[in-house]
Amino acid sequence: MGHDETPSNKSGNLKFDKVLENYLSRRTVLTGGLAAATVTMAGFAPIASAGKSKSGQNLGQRPYNRLMDFEPVDPLAANGPEPVISRDYRYHVLIPWGDPLEPSGPKYSYPPNSHDQTRQIGIGHDGMWFFPMTNEYGAVSNTHGMLAINHEFGRNSHVLGKDFPESLEDVRVSQHAHGVSVVEIKKTRRRWKPVESDKARRIHVNTPVKFSGPVADSNLIKTPNGNIPLGTVNNCSNGYTPWGTYLTCEENFNGYFGANNDRLVGTWTPTMVQERYGFGENGFGYGWHVYDRRFDLSDPDYKNEENRFGWVVEIDPMDATQKPVKRTAMGRFKHEGVALAIGRGKRVVAYMGDDQRFDYIYKFVSADNYKRMLRKGISPLDVGKLYVARFNDDGTGDWLELSMDNPVLANSFRDQAEILTYARVAADMVGATPMDRPEWTTIAPDETVYCTLTNNSRRSVDQTDAANPLGPNNDGHIIRWKDSKKHTGLTFNWDIFLFAKDSHGTEDTYSDPDGLWADPDGRLFIQTDGSQNDGEVGKFSLNNQLLVADTRTGELRRLFSGVAGDEITGVTVTPDRRTLFINTQHPGNGDPSLTNFPAPRDFVTIPRDCTFVITRKDGGIIGS
Ligand code: FEO
Ligand code: CA
Ligand code: CA
Ligand code: CA
Repeated sequence: MGHDETPSNKSGNLKFDKVLENYLSRRTVLTGGLAAATVTMAGFAPIASAGKSKSGQNLGQRPYNRLMDFEPVDPLAANGPEPVISRDYRYHVLIPWGDPLEPSGPKYSYPPNSHDQTRQIGIGHDGMWFFPMTNEYGAVSNTHGMLAINHEFGRNSHVLGKDFPESLEDVRVSQHAHGVSVVEIKKTRRRWKPVESDKARRIHVNTPVKFSGPVADSNLIKTPNGNIPLGTVNNCSNGYTPWGTYLTCEENFNGYFGANNDRLVGTWTPTMVQERYGFGENGFGYGWHVYDRRFDLSDPDYKNEENRFGWVVEIDPMDATQKPVKRTAMGRFKHEGVALAIGRGKRVVAYMGDDQRFDYIYKFVSADNYKRMLRKGISPLDVGKLYVARFNDDGTGDWLELSMDNPVLANSFRDQAEILTYARVAADMVGATPMDRPEWTTIAPDETVYCTLTNNSRRSVDQTDAANPLGPNNDGHIIRWKDSKKHTGLTFNWDIFLFAKDSHGTEDTYSDPDGLWADPDGRLFIQTDGSQNDGEVGKFSLNNQLLVADTRTGELRRLFSGVAGDEITGVTVTPDRRTLFINTQHPGNGDPSLTNFPAPRDFVTIPRDCTFVITRKDGGIIGS
């Protein structure tokens, strides 16, 4: 249950023309040679051909490739209760759920109590970033730093050992297991471990937070009883800023709200806007609303509480006293993650996916040079413009402005705060392209932006378009684009980098791309979340995995395979790129009969989400 099963975009932005044929003919053009491709991708150096060397993916026939010169994990070995890593690499486990944030903190016990959980690592390890310590001369450390890590979710059955909470204490355990950990980690004798820290902290659903940007003073985030803003939830992927802060993204926040209907005359029914964001009477079954009024949509005292979630939240990983800040200028939707670039004029540009079937890709551009804004005491993430993407069938695209300056929106919204709080509705109105569940975005050194479109089983053939050409799209694809004017322009050129189904039948078969990171050498690290079959149902099924792709050729290799029932997500490295951190999320879906990882196999011990510290045995660059 990593995502919301119900598509909530009924806006009818779907295109019904014969775009599949259109796409197929365009793809022929793209792979038909450089001259033809240059026509399609006019305006910038052609990004690597969408074609890939099929022959290079057969066992024993791999061309030598400097980017990915490691032994891939055998797909037949990649389906058990233990992880499998390339024989050129090694791993060890770091910060499993429930371990103390600092060595002196409360030790793991199952199930945790709500007090201890506020000083223990959360569950649902997802996006993360490593912030190295710097010495007095400004040199960065490769062995010591702050790891900021998201704790997206943990089902009640996993966290509490039962399906439904029976008390406020149970709800608090669940709430404190969600959120973010900022943990100080250090390498001694080849192993990384948490150390005592004045910077380490847990941020969870009851941590005081503040709002900034155009929505900060809006009534849309004020509740009748005047409760202060608290917490962050369903922290999925992440970003980081050039000024050294961590960005955590609130994704499926709707699922933690529900309606008791006991403080109202009549029954609660969602408004159209609540429906667009997927709110329902029972949420995802967490039951928080039964014991915590804040999450009860039918409680008039807490009206608007739900508008406080669905934002990008900025955290200073070096200052435990900083209050996390919700950056409202970046819009409210189911934020998967955020990838920042420094664009023309040193403006910061942030690319963001809204992960739901038929939802959109957004970008935010700061109003000015980010350094100048910071010097004036203005956050570059507070003042700027938000756009949503339209992918045209001819390989071009447009960024559509979501502001009162857009005549399409000016008559329907009261102010910018309303546009941002209901960004999905604004995006519907301007005619954005409904995508196949946009997950992570990442930016390659040549300014190409990559985005995983994880899958969309609900897209029918007549709903396909050039950017989402499969109906249904069971296995996902990776789209990429390059904006004009070094990230700041309002037009772009795009193509599809990989279709996951094209890997089926090869050694490096995968489905459902999700986590994504482009390294400075042109490698793309691809993480998966979903059922990994090879296209022949029943032949074999793999655990979720980490693959490395060559963005020049599309060649793939499997570096790591997780454990039964998990998802592989989160990717960060030390500055020297000799150490990689990734996560297993919901191993065994919490079921000890599937896996007990990281504990030895005993069929009883509860599996725990954790981080893997990965190095090459020869000390080389990760991915090489
Ligand atoms: Fe939290 Fe869309 O993955
Ligand atoms: Ca997930
Ligand atoms: Ca994801
Ligand atoms: Ca996913």
